[in-house]
Amino acid sequence: MEDFRESVIHIAYIISAALFIIGLKRLSAPASARQGNQLAIGAMTLAFVATLIDPEISTFWTIIIGTLIGGGIGYYLARKVQMTAMPQLVALFNGMGGGTAAVIAVGEFMKFARDGEVSAGEGLSVAFGVTVGCIALTGSLIAGGKLHEIIPSGAIRSPIQMPASILLVLAVGATWVYLLAMGGQETTVWIMFAVALVLGIALVIPIGGGDMPVVVSLLNSMTGLAAAAAGFVLDNQILVIAGALVGASGMLLTVLMSQAMNRPLSNVFFGAFGAAGAGPAAADGEAKPIRQTNADDAAVMLGYAQNVIIVPGYGLAVAQAQHAIRELADELDKRNVNVRYAIHPVAGRMPGHMNVLLAEANVPYDQLFEMEQINGEFQRTDVVLVVGANDVVNPAARTDQSSPIYGMPILNADSAQTIIVMKRSMKPGFAGIENDLFHLDKTRMLFGDAKAALADVIAAVKNV
Ligand code: TAP
Repeated sequence: MEDFRESVIHIAYIISAALFIIGLKRLSAPASARQGNQLAIGAMTLAFVATLIDPEISTFWTIIIGTLIGGGIGYYLARKVQMTAMPQLVALFNGMGGGTAAVIAVGEFMKFARDGEVSAGEGLSVAFGVTVGCIALTGSLIAGGKLHEIIPSGAIRSPIQMPASILLVLAVGATWVYLLAMGGQETTVWIMFAVALVLGIALVIPIGGGDMPVVVSLLNSMTGLAAAAAGFVLDNQILVIAGALVGASGMLLTVLMSQAMNRPLSNVFFGAFGAAGAGPAAADGEAKPIRQTNADDAAVMLGYAQNVIIVPGYGLAVAQAQHAIRELADELDKRNVNVRYAIHPVAGRMPGHMNVLLAEANVPYDQLFEMEQINGEFQRTDVVLVVGANDVVNPAARTDQSSPIYGMPILNADSAQTIIVMKRSMKPGFAGIENDLFHLDKTRMLFGDAKAALADVIAAVKNV
């Protein structure tokens, strides 16, 4: 009976591992992403249920209470969260994962120690799980706090910060040596736990709020590794596999985000890009000439165009204008205008931000084009409508070597015949720099909140 139960658990774990991998694969295209998510949810549920039949589980009431409380809070937060606050929610959930892995490692260490000798492999897995999990916990909480502006979002720097961080790293290293080579016991693990918690804070505090999405992605990868270590400690294969998948995909995502912003990871951690006061602000933006337009004129330009490309950016998310943009595209479609969306890989504030927003408004996937697919099309385009985007269409990335975004691949909106830019003011975007696109002869600025401005344009298009 016991053997049968174990076989069932193992088979369930293999199935859920396969489902996790297929789910991840499906996440790579907007059309299949929803299904990928559902597969991963199914995989997690299967792994959870299989773990419950493990003979080592002696009582269920703590699991039930924990699941109800944690699941309830998670469900409530996930339902309630605004799209713009999603990065901080991800940070919070990620921190919980890291903390859980660290606590499991401590708990198992106590069990090993009570049952006799702790092997070298077990000690190593515990030390890794505790250290990485604790750094991920406090690092994610600080990152979430900065994103939510509960704590100041700028880079908080001081001359003692680097020496303090080095001291903390050395202190954690010392607890590792004591635990693994000098017979350290429970107290050592708790000291390691406490120092790693402080280290997580020390590492993230000096980084500017704007870089938090990259930091959260890296911390997410660390949580995955901590979970994998917890899997080794618990001798639980699915935790090792799922943790390794999170670790690897989080690391890949981190690297891809840094590449799309054209910034080495070291610059994210030790530079102050996006921090308060960093980068040349667009203070003299108003001094250069701009040409304004209004909803009626914009509607004429759009309504009589053959090809229109919409460039969505962070402002679309802030304004929650995804349904309005879809409505405008539908109106133009009725007039046989060919409408496409150009999606920059780091438009918005989190990976896939624009895809998620537009999917929420049921924008057809075949209208969404990645930067590489559509960049050659701008020169054949009558009107580009830039909605709440700024850095991702800034030509300085191509031409100005002194610009902090120099080298970042951008959407070639400036090659179109006419550009309409919808934003509230001449204020800069995330990088804090001026955008010469707004001053071109062929650019028209349509000032206002994206949702309200789009509503006016839609009404006007209907009358064109
Ligand atoms: P941004 O360059 O940040 O520009 C967004 C623009 O939206 C702002 O200039 C703002 O101008 C406008 N805006 C804000 N609220 C608005 C509203 N309610 N209605 C209309 N417009 C509004 O955005 P982007 O072009 O999407 O570029 C993203 C930036 O974030 C890049 O620099 C990227 O490197 C960085 N970043 C991205 C990620 C990921 S993973 N996506 C992660 C970290 C950093 P006004 O204030 O004048 O309205």
